[in-house]
Amino acid sequence: MHSDEPGANPGTSTPATLVTGAMPVHIACVMDGNGRWAARRGLPRTDGHAAGEAALLDTVEGALELGVSWLTMYAFSTENWRRPPDEVRYLMGFNEGLLMRRRDELNDKGVRIRFAGRRDWRVPRRVLRRMDESVALTESNRRMTLTMAFNYGGRAEIVDAVRALVADGVPAGKVDDKAIRARFYQPEQPDPDLVVRTSGEYRISNFLLWQLAYSELVFTDVLWPDFRRQHLFDAVGEYQRRRRRYGGVS
Ligand code: IPE
Ligand code: IPE
Ligand code: MG
Repeated sequence: MHSDEPGANPGTSTPATLVTGAMPVHIACVMDGNGRWAARRGLPRTDGHAAGEAALLDTVEGALELGVSWLTMYAFSTENWRRPPDEVRYLMGFNEGLLMRRRDELNDKGVRIRFAGRRDWRVPRRVLRRMDESVALTESNRRMTLTMAFNYGGRAEIVDAVRALVADGVPAGKVDDKAIRARFYQPEQPDPDLVVRTSGEYRISNFLLWQLAYSELVFTDVLWPDFRRQHLFDAVGEYQRRRRRYGGVS
């Protein structure tokens, strides 16, 4: 990395300097900037996605070091189908390959793999099969739950929950936060304490709309393929300097 590149001068937070009692329980990441990372190197966008694999694995390692229980990674959004067919095809194959390459090592580390998103006809069957196999393989792990948000949209998740409420015949008077949450993709998952978005974009892009009502948001200019556990530690350092009030007074 050149010294003037974003992320070239990371902070100094380490698992030892962070406050153990104030660790986020759930961290969610928007892995963004793969295309720009590749463009800067004169490479095709898909090389940027490929380079994101190392960032993902190092982030998982970092989260494990911190003792984070839930890690959610935004891998493919319901809007990403708008991309050129070649890139979409690449991303489907890449995510399938990633599971094949990495599920055993994730399993060995005690990581439980889950998926959040729509299982619609656009997701190739083979990919769905790999997803199901990875979930089954790692189901009994409890050290950390890694949720891949794949064909995920926050609005779609809310729509799906509302459809389920209607299908279940829930009367209007019984519709509340709890009834809605119970119908999300991962009902037992706590809301993210910290959301990290890379690549210098200051938006949510349809990620976990309901769940991040009171999440702390950290934005970094680092492009996803350059992201490493040090950046995660720095984001947690920033999180620990925030004062969460949930609408109350501190
Ligand atoms: C994130 O990187 C990966 C996905 C959204 C699948 P991008 O592909 O969005 O990269 P940029 O934002 O164009 O640089
Ligand atoms: C968000 O990134 C989705 C994922 C990281 C999977 P995008 O690149 O799709 O978001 P926008 O288009 O910049 O909002
Ligand atoms: Mg992007």
